[in-house]
Amino acid sequence: MRQLKILIVEDSPTIRMGLVSVLRKFGAEVMQAADGSEGFDIAVASQFDLIITDIDMPVMNGLQLCQELKKRPDTLSIPIIILSSEESEYHIEEGFRVGASAYINKMNAPRELERCVEELLLKSEILHNRLILVVDDSAAIRAVVKEGLIKEGFQAVTAAHGTEALTILISQKPDVILCDLEMPEMDGISFFETLQSRSQWAGIPFIVMSSISDRSTMRRMMRKGASAYLVKPFNIGQSVIMIEKLLSDHYQLLLREKERFIAERNLMLGSITSLIQALEARDLYTRGHSDSVAKIAAGMGRQMRLSSREIECIDIAGKLHDIGKIGIRDDLLLKSDRLTDEEFEIIKQHPVIGANILRPIPSLAEIIPAVLHHHEHLDGKGYPSGFKGTQIPLWARIISVGDTYHALISNRPYRKGMSHKEAVTVIRHVSGTQLCPECVSIFLEWAKSSALKKEDFFS
Ligand SMILES: [Fe+2]
Repeated sequence: MRQLKILIVEDSPTIRMGLVSVLRKFGAEVMQAADGSEGFDIAVASQFDLIITDIDMPVMNGLQLCQELKKRPDTLSIPIIILSSEESEYHIEEGFRVGASAYINKMNAPRELERCVEELLLKSEILHNRLILVVDDSAAIRAVVKEGLIKEGFQAVTAAHGTEALTILISQKPDVILCDLEMPEMDGISFFETLQSRSQWAGIPFIVMSSISDRSTMRRMMRKGASAYLVKPFNIGQSVIMIEKLLSDHYQLLLREKERFIAERNLMLGSITSLIQALEARDLYTRGHSDSVAKIAAGMGRQMRLSSREIECIDIAGKLHDIGKIGIRDDLLLKSDRLTDEEFEIIKQHPVIGANILRPIPSLAEIIPAVLHHHEHLDGKGYPSGFKGTQIPLWARIISVGDTYHALISNRPYRKGMSHKEAVTVIRHVSGTQLCPECVSIFLEWAKSSALKKEDFFS
């Protein structure tokens, strides 16, 4: 993926620094300006994928900057996010009126900004560096169209007729095909019919470009499934707009799919977490354990400055890490005496059972390794796989610290829960053998910065 280039226009150096650290997470190249006028000069001198601007600034304010940039053809299409502490309806309306794509309150900036940039990244990945196959028997047209597409950020390959295009398709799959109709060897109609008959090529958007302007050919091609029709002579701008439209329809489809995916996941999560709560509620000693582990693990994720998506996954994995206990006999799960070796062997099956329960749910696939490996030890003496060090997935190592800490401070039938200080001493002691030392340091930093105490979990 190409590197995103983002410009921040903001008069406060502290806020600028905060924004830079959020954006660096995406590997973006970030430039900064201290007021609207400086921002304008930088924006016109280089090509940006995104501009984030404050409103209230000296020399030229953010609304004026937005208005000026939207007047110029070279900066017109750059999305602008207005970041402001002013949240009156007037300011929001004014922001959109001058052409901003989004308005974010400074209070919610880090979280909202991440979401905005993630969406933008997805869109930029969809629209740029896409491969377009241009098929035309005229060398001059091939050259002009190819050059125009490359200028717009697309990649392009060309073929002189259908047969040559089919040879290209064997090794490269284009995202869009622009094709002439009348060509030697294999004409556009036969080429299109061949594509339609092969499942791996049938879905590629196909734009017909032809000087045959008679309506019947046009209708015939559209009926066969062509996506669009360009009548020659056309200018390259028209074809670019058409390609972008086809690709962004595809992007909208992906977005809708993502929304469906999230909705399905939330529904599943709701049912599974209530199952776990019911399971834990039967035992006074484990009540609320999974929620507490999730809270600690998510806190550690934030301390590590992981992305909001990763933190969300860790939170879910924390909530579900002991789901496999559903498959363990009650007399073992609720036993108040110490377990025998044989009984412990049965309890040790819960991570594998948990992973098997989650496996049929596609939207939870990425958290399975964290559930499966949350009882591995850094020295390889844990279970179920006996993984060592970084063989253990990071999310599992994080959850393991939260799980250990919360188990230590919880009462058990045979012992009273430790104090926060005692638990921290034990955690430090097992760092490097049982627990990952980097995760332990992160946990200690987070516990200190959030003034963590035992009462946070037991009221
Ligand atoms: Fe467990």
